[in-house]
Amino acid sequence: MKNYLVTGGLGFIGSNFVRYILTEDETVKVINLDKMTYAGNPENLKDIEHNENYSFVKGDICDRDLVEKIFSDQKIDVVINFAAESHVDRSIEDAAGFIKTDIEGVWNLLEKSKKYGVERFIQISTDEVYGTIAKGSSDESYPLLPSNPYSASKAGGDRLAYSYFVTHKIPVIVTRASNNYGCYQYPEKMIPLFITNALEGQKLPVYGDGKQMRDWLNVIDHCDAIRFIIENGVPGETYNIAGNCEKMNIDVTEKILEILGLEKDLMSFIEDRPGHDRRYSLNADKLSLLGWKPKKQFHSALEETVLWYKNNENWWKRLKDEEFKEYYKKNYGYRMDIK
Ligand code: NAD
Ligand code: TYD
Repeated sequence: MKNYLVTGGLGFIGSNFVRYILTEDETVKVINLDKMTYAGNPENLKDIEHNENYSFVKGDICDRDLVEKIFSDQKIDVVINFAAESHVDRSIEDAAGFIKTDIEGVWNLLEKSKKYGVERFIQISTDEVYGTIAKGSSDESYPLLPSNPYSASKAGGDRLAYSYFVTHKIPVIVTRASNNYGCYQYPEKMIPLFITNALEGQKLPVYGDGKQMRDWLNVIDHCDAIRFIIENGVPGETYNIAGNCEKMNIDVTEKILEILGLEKDLMSFIEDRPGHDRRYSLNADKLSLLGWKPKKQFHSALEETVLWYKNNENWWKRLKDEEFKEYYKKNYGYRMDIK
């Protein structure tokens, strides 16, 4: 058996990964360390709560004593660090938690990995560290030019992890994935926000002209790529993980409305996000040469995602009615100005 320390395993991608790996690999035990911020939801893993290969620790990756205890209690073979503050808009309002978790938290996990030794340390980074790219695609050697506090903190964690490979020989691998979509995504991110707003008959707040471009990666493909990289990736290397599906926000929005049989006039163009990156585009040839490519097709996977939100209203309604709505009112004044 191998012990995987998964951090942030109650969030969107982390919970999908925990479910995926426990289903696919019976030789893996998962210890899930999650602080349960607004984004960490135990309901995301309700179905595997009692799996004998799963255990949960509530806590902060920045907590030195707690992380020390986890490493000293059992041999940790692989660390997969998903834990992060992850929403750009929140980082614009208040960056403190981003700097703490996305940099200091990474450092704490690296220190303990150095002390106790691990086979792999996977730092889940993001394509946003490259910043906006007008033409072409960023490969792994492309300069990092993050332009908002979220992506800048992630770039800090990304390079800190690499420095522990170079300096301390920790077998670190960094992954940089593009925008994910799928089930259990907190309804503040564009795709789940727009699906759930549409289901509630509310407007879909498109920032600026909606012509910003993102590459969309289905979360299950992302989980599959991470597993592939744990098994086949080379320590010290960074791998871009792309969905090979670049789309303008406005096209994704129209597609969601089309799937739901709703009119385009539900779209509302509102004030742009400050510092909004116009386009992300990844060159993922390196991972493709190693042998991994995404399998999901955007249109059918988006339909599946819409259906999941339609069938799981209890999951998202509570989030939107309680914490999120309060936060939304307090911090997103300009976004409430929807015609
Ligand atoms: P999320 O916000 O849905 O989940 C984050 C999880 O981390 C939550 O469960 C939260 O409780 C936990 N967490 C936050 N701070 C913590 C701390 N200090 N200690 C322990 N747990 C903590 O995020 P997500 O969308 O699932 O993203 C997961 C990772 O993937 C992040 O590192 C993010 O930067 C990266 N990423 C996300 C995307 C995307 O499109 N969502 C794309 C590329 C990379
Ligand atoms: P988001 O899901 O926040 O991911 P990221 O900013 O990390 O790429 O946003 C995806 C795109 O959608 C981004 O260009 C911003 C845009 N967007 C909107 O137009 N309206 C919204 O309400 C949100 C949340 C995002």
